[in-house]
Amino acid sequence: MDNIAKDIERVLLSEEEIAARVAEISADITRDYGGKNPLLISVLRGSFIFMADLVRSLPIECTLDFMAVSSYGKKSATTGAVKITKDLDLDIEGRHVIIVEDILDSGLTLSFMMELMSAKRPASIRLCTLLDKPARRQKPIQADYVGFEVPDEFVVGYGLDYADKYRNLPYIGVLKPCIYCKE
Ligand code: XMP
Ligand code: MG
Repeated sequence: MDNIAKDIERVLLSEEEIAARVAEISADITRDYGGKNPLLISVLRGSFIFMADLVRSLPIECTLDFMAVSSYGKKSATTGAVKITKDLDLDIEGRHVIIVEDILDSGLTLSFMMELMSAKRPASIRLCTLLDKPARRQKPIQADYVGFEVPDEFVVGYGLDYADKYRNLPYIGVLKPCIYCKE
């Protein structure tokens, strides 16, 4: 049997810890956006599980859209190049937008997306990221809602991948460095 858990050095955030924090973020968003029908935009693919859990715990009216950008390829280091591979389907002009991300790392992806979306004149725009890795920031960008601050290690699971693997792990774990040291 090929159990993907064998590639995990240690569990950083358990399913229970993530669920509890997602409920707290959802309560914050409910308080801030009740009656405003916010438009939540999930940045695919890493944030799909976070988005699914977050919106299922939101009791308020909201709208969803998805956007895909690629910046990583198979490498675990930021290349800096961000390409839109799937654009939004909805018009965001005049809407209260919340960008939902898996991890804010160098900040290159989100600062690019913020610029792009601001040009479309939303009523407001905020960032919600499950994980924040401030150690590697290259752009002065901060999220409005942050699940957890994480150390400068490569993490996978709960939507996050390495070379398109490990997204289906229900927890967030630190990948054994030997998995990507041969790059
Ligand atoms: P930047 O550096 O632009 O990167 O803030 C954001 C995107 O890079 C991916 N990323 C990671 N993916 N484990 C992952 O599985 C990590 O530790 C990690 N760090 C960055 C992620 O897709 C994120 O949206
Ligand atoms: Mg991502």
